[in-house]
Amino acid sequence: IEGERLVIIIVGASGDLAKRKTYPSLLSLYACNLLPRDFVVYGYARSSITDEGLRDQIRPYLAGRKVADSVIEDFLRLCFYKSGGRGGYGDVRGWRELDAILRNERGGYRQNRIFYFAIPPNVFAETGSAIKAGCMAHDGFNRMIVEKPFGRDLESCRDILESLGRHFDESCLYRIDHYLGKEMVQNLIVMRFGNIWMENMWNRNYVQCVVLTFKEPFGTQGRGGYFDQYGIIRDIVQNHLLQGFMCLLCMECPNKLMGPEAGEKVRNEKVRVLEAMPPVTLDEVFLGQYEGYTDDETITNKASNCPTFAIIRCFINNARWAGVPIIFKAGKALEEGKAEMRVQFKDAPAVETLFDGHKVPRNEIVMQLQPRETIYMKSNIKTPGFSTTPIQSELEVKYDTRYFSGAGESNPDAYSRLILDVLHGRSASFVRSDELLRAWEIFTPVLHQIEKENVKPHVYKAGSRGPPGADAFFTEKSGYVRNDDYTYSSFG
Ligand code: BG6
Repeated sequence: IEGERLVIIIVGASGDLAKRKTYPSLLSLYACNLLPRDFVVYGYARSSITDEGLRDQIRPYLAGRKVADSVIEDFLRLCFYKSGGRGGYGDVRGWRELDAILRNERGGYRQNRIFYFAIPPNVFAETGSAIKAGCMAHDGFNRMIVEKPFGRDLESCRDILESLGRHFDESCLYRIDHYLGKEMVQNLIVMRFGNIWMENMWNRNYVQCVVLTFKEPFGTQGRGGYFDQYGIIRDIVQNHLLQGFMCLLCMECPNKLMGPEAGEKVRNEKVRVLEAMPPVTLDEVFLGQYEGYTDDETITNKASNCPTFAIIRCFINNARWAGVPIIFKAGKALEEGKAEMRVQFKDAPAVETLFDGHKVPRNEIVMQLQPRETIYMKSNIKTPGFSTTPIQSELEVKYDTRYFSGAGESNPDAYSRLILDVLHGRSASFVRSDELLRAWEIFTPVLHQIEKENVKPHVYKAGSRGPPGADAFFTEKSGYVRNDDYTYSSFG
C-alpha cells in the first residue's frame, strides 16, 4: 500500500530459529513479490555486529531456497541490525533507540511493525514489556509472533500467556505451531467441508479409528538439552498432532471457513472439540526411549526417563466421535521420517457372504504431509484382468506430479505461509490462548503422573519401528486392522 511501510523486527536475530527459518521464509516471500514494496527487516539481538556482519551470518542459510543470487543480495540489502546492548531484551533503552532509527528513516510514513520473537519463552515477558514501553508503531499496526514452547504444563503456560497478555491484546498475538502452516493441514478445511461425500462418512457410524502419526528418522541431534526438559508428548503430540491435525480433522464445521471472520469462528470450533476430550490417563499411554539417547552431550541427566516415543489413545465425547479411538503416535530415531493423518473406516457390510469368503479390506483415507505430500484413499476394486476377486488399491493425488511438474516448484514452506498470514491479519492458523490452555488441560495430569512416578519408557533401537510391544499396544487400543497384502509407496 502506498504510504505505508512494513518493518519486521526479528528479536533474537543471531539465534538458530531466526537463521534457519525466519530469514529464509522472508526471502521466499520477497522472491515471490508477496511483501509490500516498502519493507525492511531489522534484526535485534545482544551481540554487537554491523549490518554487514548480520548479512554474512544469514547468507549461508538463504542458499537452499532456490532463489537467484542477485535476488538474495537485493533482499539482504533490506536487512539491518540493531544491537540491544548488554542490558538484554528487557532493556527499554535499546528499543527506544531502534524506534528513533525507524521513525527518522522515513518521516511521515504510516508504519506497521511485526515483532518476531525468535527468543526463548523465559525472556518473552521482559521483551514484551520493553517493546511496549519503547518501540510500538504509533500510527500503524503492531503484531507479535511467538513460538512454542508455551510452557511445560497448564500452570507454566498460564504464566507465559499472562506475561504477554499484560502488554498486548490477544488480537495482535500470533502463536505459531508451524504444522498449522503445512499444505496438508491447511487443506483439511477444503477437503472436509468442500466435498459432500466426506461429511456423511466422517463420524462414529463409519470411522473405526483416527491415527495421527509423526516419525523422524533421527534423534535429538544436539538439541537434547532442550528436548530433555520437554519430551515427545510436549514437543510433538500436545501441539502438532493435537492442535494441528486432530482439531481440524475432527471439529464441527464453522460458520465461516475463509475471510476475515474465519479466524475466530474456526478457532471456536477447535476449542469446542478440545472441550469434549477428557484428560488422558496413564493406561492409555505407551512410552519409549531410543538406545543411546542420553549419549547426546547436551543431555546432562544421564539417567533421564524422558520419552522420545509415545502412543496415546484419546476419545472425543461428543455426538460425532463418541467411542472412536483417536491415536497419537510420535517418535524420534525411528525407521523412517513420516507425518500423516489416517482414518480407517469400518468393514463394508456382509462382505464375507457377498464376496463368497474373499477378503474385502477396510477403506482408509490417508493424508500424508511428509515425506511426500499426497492424499490416498485405500479402496477396493476388482483385480484387473480375468479374475473377479477384490483387491485393495488406491485413489490418490500426489501433489508434486499433479501440481508442480516444473523443476524446483513446490508448495511454500509453513513459515512463509504463516508470516504472510500475519501480514494480512489472518489469524485462523494461529493458536488462541483458550485453545492452548485446553490442550494443556488434556495432557498436564498424565505428564505430571509420568514424572512423579518416574515411569520408565520402553527401550528401542535407533532406526527401528519403536519398542517391542508398541505395535500390539496400538492394535489393541485402536482396533485397526492391517491388510498385510497391501503395500503403498508414495514414491511410486
Ligand atoms: C519441532 C520440534 O516443533 O518440529 C522438533 O520441536 C521437530 O523436535 C520438528 O523435529 C519437526 O518439524 P518438521 O517441519 O521438520 O516436520
